[in-house]
Amino acid sequence: MQTIDHYAVFGYPIGHSKSPRIHRLFAQQTGQDLEYAAVAVPADTFSASVSAFLAGGGKGLNCTIPLKELAWQRAEQLTERARLAKAVNTLALQTDGTLLGDNTDGFGLANDLTRNHQVKISGTRILVLGAGGATRGILSALFGLAPDSVLLINRTVEKADNLAQEFCHLGPIRSGGYADLHNLSGFDLIINATASSLSNELPPLPDHVLRDGGVCYDLAYGNQPTAFVRWGQTHGAAKSVDGLGMLVEQAAEAFRLWRGLSPDTAAVINLLNRERNLHASES
Ligand code: ATR
Repeated sequence: MQTIDHYAVFGYPIGHSKSPRIHRLFAQQTGQDLEYAAVAVPADTFSASVSAFLAGGGKGLNCTIPLKELAWQRAEQLTERARLAKAVNTLALQTDGTLLGDNTDGFGLANDLTRNHQVKISGTRILVLGAGGATRGILSALFGLAPDSVLLINRTVEKADNLAQEFCHLGPIRSGGYADLHNLSGFDLIINATASSLSNELPPLPDHVLRDGGVCYDLAYGNQPTAFVRWGQTHGAAKSVDGLGMLVEQAAEAFRLWRGLSPDTAAVINLLNRERNLHASES
């Protein structure tokens, strides 16, 4: 019989996940007794692994690449933001025994941008690169901050067009391919939601596309600045940051859903940043 509540992150691969560390820090900080594990779960065993986890007394799960769409299918109820994203990063066992699916990624990005980095979104022109699952997860939260407009650019233009059509009821959104950027300039915020950083690549951006003093935000993060963060640093960005803060903020929202408590995210972000700087100076 388990006495401590169990949580986990499922993904494949999962070895480098920072989620166990973050949730243990939240638990320490808020005095919660819980366990949080990282479990490698391939897509074809996802549903069975969720069932086994719940049968063993598990209370909640985070799901990451490549499982967010499967988690969306597996959830018995969805929050509005998960319904819009068609992707779930947080599953919570409710008191009636049903499984609630939420998507806290967009909330995490919005909080990191506006609270931690003090970026004002209202009235701004935003360029979003990529039209995959990561973009799906953030669009409704971005529109919640009332930007002037969002332009969605993707290598495969059809995917950007389809996504723009799907989300156009939420706010002003247009779509196109990278060639369209050559006639455009002055974006206040560029968000890299492509998978390019994972292979240390850079989407093909023309030099003038960011407003001088604008902001670059990479949803990816790593021990070194990503290629996109470096691009921002050399193309006039006042701030060019990666998604470590978003990672902590989305985790905090999952923790709140499970435990009813909001941890102090700034303390955890500062700690992870200090560790990262130490790691960078040693390597
Ligand atoms: P995720 O769930 O992380 O969004 P995904 O659904 O596979 O992953 O989407 C990856 C996104 O990154 C896509 O928009 C992809 O562009 P295509 O749809 O044209 O494939 C984009 N992407 C991946 N590598 C890229 C690169 N080197 N440059 C630009 N875009 C890239």
